[in-house]
Amino acid sequence: MFKPLKPRLFLLLSAAMLAACGEVEDTRPGQPVKQRQMAFKEMVKTFEPMGVMLREGRYEADKFAALADKLMAKRDAPWSHFGPDTHYPPTKATPEVWKQPEQFEKNKQAFITATDTLRTAAQGKDKAQVEKAYEAVHEACKTCHKQFKER
Ligand code: HEC
Repeated sequence: MFKPLKPRLFLLLSAAMLAACGEVEDTRPGQPVKQRQMAFKEMVKTFEPMGVMLREGRYEADKFAALADKLMAKRDAPWSHFGPDTHYPPTKATPEVWKQPEQFEKNKQAFITATDTLRTAAQGKDKAQVEKAYEAVHEACKTCHKQFKER
């Protein structure tokens, strides 16, 4: 016969099912983890189309420059959401972000510098320079993720 689940067990099961789908909610006030993840996703929306353009061999200088400007507008958004004590689910950040703040800051600065160069290159409209600068930003993302983001 069907027996209703006890409320507590039901809650546990829902939490487990949510975790299985990778849909753990950020329940903290202000949702810092969710905020920074969304900020990174916003960055990707400008960065990815630049990469696609270059990989598919259809570099359009004006479009590319507009995307680079958009990336500049988004690049500062994630960082203020890495406050103290914000290493909790559903974060994909490693504890190193908080254990090695100077190293994290260094990676962030390298990324900022790389995006400055990308914008300058985009405005210069020299394809070879643009490709080089794009790759440097890509490296900056990857270098930081290697150390500070779980895969
Ligand atoms: C200084 C370090 C650093 C740099 C630079 C950096 N990231 Fe990240 N990124 C992180 C960390 C840490 C997380 C994990 C955040 C979390 O889950 O709390 C992350 C998460 C992400 C996510 C996942 C968001 C989600 O919803 O899970 C994407 C996508 C991403 N970054 C893209 C990029 C791209 C693209 C660049 C370069 C243009 C970049 N990041 C540069 C540290 C960095």
